[in-house]
Amino acid sequence: MCGIVGYVGEKQAAPVLLDGLEKLEYRGYDSAGLAVLDGKNNINIARAKGKLCELFKKTDGGKALEGVCGIGHTRWATHGEPSENNAHPHFNDDKTIAAVHNGIIENYAELKGKLSRQGYEFYSETDTEVATKLVDYYYKKHGDPVRAIANFVLRVRGSYALAVLFKDYPDQIFAVRKDSPMIIGVAGGEAFIASDVPAILKYTKSVYYVANTEIAHVEKGKVTFYNLDKEVVEKDLTEITWNAQSAEKDGYEHFMLKEMHEQPRVVKDTVNGLIKDGKIDFSDFGLSDKDIAKVKHITVVACGSAYHAGVAAQYVLEELARIPVRVELSSEFRYRNPVADKNCLVIVISQSGETADSLAALREAKKLKMKTLAIVNVLGSSIAREADGVLYTKAGPEIAVATTKAYSSQLIAGYALALKFATVRNTITQERYKELLSELSTLPEKIECILKQKESIQHFASEAANKKNVFFIGRGVDYAVCIEGSLKLKEISYVHSEAYAAGELKHGPISLIEDGTLVIGVLMQENLIEKTLSNLVETKSRGAYIAAVTCGDDKKVENVADVKITVPYTDGLFAASLAVIPLQLFAYYLSVLKGNDVDKPRNLAKSVTVE
Ligand code: F6R
Repeated sequence: MCGIVGYVGEKQAAPVLLDGLEKLEYRGYDSAGLAVLDGKNNINIARAKGKLCELFKKTDGGKALEGVCGIGHTRWATHGEPSENNAHPHFNDDKTIAAVHNGIIENYAELKGKLSRQGYEFYSETDTEVATKLVDYYYKKHGDPVRAIANFVLRVRGSYALAVLFKDYPDQIFAVRKDSPMIIGVAGGEAFIASDVPAILKYTKSVYYVANTEIAHVEKGKVTFYNLDKEVVEKDLTEITWNAQSAEKDGYEHFMLKEMHEQPRVVKDTVNGLIKDGKIDFSDFGLSDKDIAKVKHITVVACGSAYHAGVAAQYVLEELARIPVRVELSSEFRYRNPVADKNCLVIVISQSGETADSLAALREAKKLKMKTLAIVNVLGSSIAREADGVLYTKAGPEIAVATTKAYSSQLIAGYALALKFATVRNTITQERYKELLSELSTLPEKIECILKQKESIQHFASEAANKKNVFFIGRGVDYAVCIEGSLKLKEISYVHSEAYAAGELKHGPISLIEDGTLVIGVLMQENLIEKTLSNLVETKSRGAYIAAVTCGDDKKVENVADVKITVPYTDGLFAASLAVIPLQLFAYYLSVLKGNDVDKPRNLAKSVTVE
């Protein structure tokens, strides 16, 4: 949802900013822009509609904008269509202030009205231009950037990460955020602002996490933070453990392909991070055995694929720990006035840790005095900081918009929670516990083995290239995989698909099955294979073309399926970790065949920081 960058140092700013924006392009890619202070007290701006390469061309790789201090932006349109005019940065009327913004200013219409009455004119449809002119208004009133921004914060409603250049302050950037991510990195005589770590990993791993409404004054190699009363706030630097290479494609054609191939390692790292002395241990994540014993219900809140990981966790948790689990979309939970329950643990799952709805759901749970646990991938993200406890998945930076490795690591966190709750609640035998723990450690190798057969999935994708509608059906954990497989297909290949619990098909959607409709059945649960198989037969009788993802050599499956995709055997509870791999590959190859932009699918952005 828009990415912002800033740089001040010894180098030419524009190429560094473009490089950072390239790493953030997953956050928005309908237009981009740069503003650079040229050392002669001018702020020069370049903006371009379309992907970042357009801005790159327009500025000759940044050479056209001289200066060592600047800000940049890649946009995912909220207010106003994608166009050069609406692209950031935006200027004040006399071009002495320029700003980039990520988020939404909710009261922008009211503020625009007030500023218009003060004589301000507007050239774009954006809330960011309003934000820039509001800062200008307060700057002209107080003559001080920090005070101007503090007044801006007091006046606006909504979410924002804002970086501002003032002509009067060469080689300095002023920034603030509220509910939109922002980090500031320092290295020697340089300082960097970014919406996310990958943008600056190449330059530094020492970062400050900017807290809500803190104002940063960024100079060469130095950052000073202020609160709204202009008192200095002391902050500690955090060292990032991700390596710079993890934000590069590393020879793969797409980040998504690379990230799918990282899944064996990511799953292994996540499992290893959860086991201490041969047992699952949650004591480092703010969830002691005593805390767990008090929990009577669990509510998982999340969006998109993270929600799907929650659905898989629900089946495993209820099966192993015999505890009631409810999984809710964050966007629903936050507004449905949930009943406060002090015995309920609310688990928020989020790769980015910045998803606006999930952050709001977390706050709602905290307001209701429920204990909260975050399962998050990005260190120091808002959800991680605000939850009572946090379990970090070990996926490393995920750049492709469609999640793969982060989803896989979220699944592992869910299994580990289930095993932990089961031991504390005494609902699992030692034997079964050990069996599952040992099965968990075999998953990376099994995922690797599926990835090695990727050509067969590529072939299947080429056969399915003309399908207009695809159905995914399964039961139990297999159903949880289906909803994820269906989402992957929709988002990157733009093929219409639906996922249904296999038993539900005949209650309506079966009327959509016609000659040649592709139905993909996930058949990983030994006790449910026959049931799902009969649902597949029902669709086959109506002309469907059947593909089955399964782990056995069951002849019954072969008799029904036109295409059989076999993955290694695993316990049914962990089936999602294996069955999802061919579904990810299928969506990927279909997207490639269609010539889509796999890593940056249309209309989407990775970190959804607006509701
Ligand atoms: C789908 C996808 C999205 C995210 C969702 C939540 O491939 O990536 O559906 O899962 O936007 O994002 P996070 O996990 O960052 O809260």
